[in-house]
Amino acid sequence: MLRVLAGEVLQPPPIWIMRQAGRYLPEYRKLRSKAGSFLDLCLTPELATEVTLQPVGRFDFDAAILFSDILMIPYALGQDLAFVEGQGPVLGSLRDVDELDLDGVRANLTPVLETVRLVRSRLPQEKALIGFCGAPWTVATYMIAGRGTADQLPARRMAIEAPARLQALIHVLVEASSRYLLGQIEAGADVVKIFDSWAGVLDDEGFERWAVAPVRAIVERVKAAAPHVPVIAFPKGAGARLIDYAEKTGVDAVAIDWTMPMRLARDMIAAPVTLQGNLDPLRVVAGGAALDEGVDAILQAMDGFPHIFNLGHGITPDTPIVNVERLVARVRGRR
Ligand code: CP3
Repeated sequence: MLRVLAGEVLQPPPIWIMRQAGRYLPEYRKLRSKAGSFLDLCLTPELATEVTLQPVGRFDFDAAILFSDILMIPYALGQDLAFVEGQGPVLGSLRDVDELDLDGVRANLTPVLETVRLVRSRLPQEKALIGFCGAPWTVATYMIAGRGTADQLPARRMAIEAPARLQALIHVLVEASSRYLLGQIEAGADVVKIFDSWAGVLDDEGFERWAVAPVRAIVERVKAAAPHVPVIAFPKGAGARLIDYAEKTGVDAVAIDWTMPMRLARDMIAAPVTLQGNLDPLRVVAGGAALDEGVDAILQAMDGFPHIFNLGHGITPDTPIVNVERLVARVRGRR
């Protein structure tokens, strides 16, 4: 995966999948029920390490991704956080931005950095370890709404009605995310990924200000301290704005969601970057010909280009294990 991130073309491409550790795996569900809450699981290095390694052991993926969550940053900054069964994340009301405690990043996320260390020591050398954080905009949408919403209306309203307030929050999140990613790199992460799952709900001006600029600021910070570590960004729903996203942010790779044809992304993106993606997760739920055809179309579109195979968003809990096996075999040309 590191070779492809450096621009090399490999056949077959490396493969890992978003949310590869999670509820579709019986071994995850078992460990999760032992751990108590999801937050406890993320903050217990021994258990989080085991969960991180589970899908790599089972499917022989080319990379492990740290088991944690993008909402660990608001948690570390002092905002109350719980993951409620059947509801998703629930955050306490957002206090004055000045009350968010940047020192909490290193202080409260020490167990997560310990997980990175443990995973890197147990992961086979030829597998990459991906560290991550949420992009400031996406993390802000949850901090502002206090929960997941269908359209992130509360944050979008703030972006338009109270941009100075949002800017202050984004500023804190850029700083927190930069420190957090550098901590993960110090602990052994080989690659870092910035998840901007809600980039697509912004208008053009908003996209520049809230999605592009903060990610560029983080990339600058990371590159200044760790120039050799590749950065992947996932600006979900960016659409035509992918054209100069890589150039403007300075990332090494862009993860593409399933709505964007890979051939279009390949031809449209101006910078010489690696592309990751982008099978519709529902094709993995369905399996059979729907899965095979989806895989083949992506492999064909990316033939001759630096490509990391992945889904266009996270794998869903109802995905049959046999379909994931079939996916990996198909990508590697064994089915
Ligand atoms: O990819 C991986 O395997 C690594 C771990 C990982 C998780 N979340 C574990 C998780 C990663 C990289 C994330 C990122 C994340 N978290 C994003 C960005 C990527 C995306 O999916 O768009 C976002 C928006 C979140 C916020 C979040 N976390 C939500 C909205 C939810 C609830 C919905 C859901 O899927 O349950 C979570 C919980 C969460 N994060 C779970 C896992 C495995 C499920 C928790 C459980 O086991 O009950």
